[in-house]
Amino acid sequence: SAPLRQHAASRGKFVGAALAASPLANEAAYRTIAATEFNQVTAENAMKWEATEPSQGQFTFGGADALVNFATQNDQQVHGHTLVWHSQTPGWVQSLGATAMRSAMQNHISQVVGRYANNPAVVSWDVVNEVFDDNGNLRTSFWYNTLGQSYIADAFRAARAADPDARLCINDYNVEGVNAKSTAMYDLVRSLRQQGVPVDCVGFQGHLAIQYGFPAQVRQNMQRFADLGVQVRVTELDVRMTLPRDTAKDATQATYYRDVVDACLAVNACAGVTVWGFTDKYSWVPETFPGQGAALLYDESYQRKPAYTAVHDAL
Ligand code: XIL
Repeated sequence: SAPLRQHAASRGKFVGAALAASPLANEAAYRTIAATEFNQVTAENAMKWEATEPSQGQFTFGGADALVNFATQNDQQVHGHTLVWHSQTPGWVQSLGATAMRSAMQNHISQVVGRYANNPAVVSWDVVNEVFDDNGNLRTSFWYNTLGQSYIADAFRAARAADPDARLCINDYNVEGVNAKSTAMYDLVRSLRQQGVPVDCVGFQGHLAIQYGFPAQVRQNMQRFADLGVQVRVTELDVRMTLPRDTAKDATQATYYRDVVDACLAVNACAGVTVWGFTDKYSWVPETFPGQGAALLYDESYQRKPAYTAVHDAL
């Protein structure tokens, strides 16, 4: 039957995957599925600050270019991830004073976004990532502690200047449903846009776990953001479980995938859904959440799981 990307395209959505640099370079089976099933890709790590500007002013685009070239060859859109984040950012950035940190941020955005500004494959960016803490307060990251909350607006303005055509997103986790954190995100996006800050898009990461339940009111949450005039998207979907896998957990996981895709299909402003990896062979889950895993659409041997079928049937 037809690949996911064909069904998604016929519904006017993308279906994407985050790709890891090493199997992308080295594994034919990985490349084949990535190319065949998805029409949008995100670099799992290759566009992060530690990868693109490990020392100040020394830009390294090997991994990022490889991802963009792969996407170009396979007629896929690239979502740039991510420009300003508290994690995977070199120590040299974190130790700068306010004036130097602000210029380093603006220069980084200008160089990274600027490199792909005329590349038709690269259409959107996560400008800021995870600016909220788990209570829905602005995270007291080194960005916030050094610059105050103005770094957020400044980052969006720098990205707009570097590529006036790119869609500029704010991205976070645990904001899929209606809750205190997503309401804080909603208030921030509304206020930024009222001030003329160029926020075009909101990304819901979607790192779900079957043992925590499905988030409440996902479609309603997407719709309230859409009503602010922004595009929405699911950027990093995975659905982990306590290992080992079994048939019942696989079936529950499949319903989570289906329900996320259905929510996006029901909201016009939802552009698509991206999974954070596609095979359990390469997933951030087991090393980040010990004892958990099996979060993706394919198993470690590239066999389709019930989650794949659920996404396929939903699209
Ligand atoms: C993760 C990657 O998957 C890992 O390979 C890396 O070691 C750490 O980062 N939210 C994000 C992503 O926005 O960038 C993170 O990716 C997962 C959580």
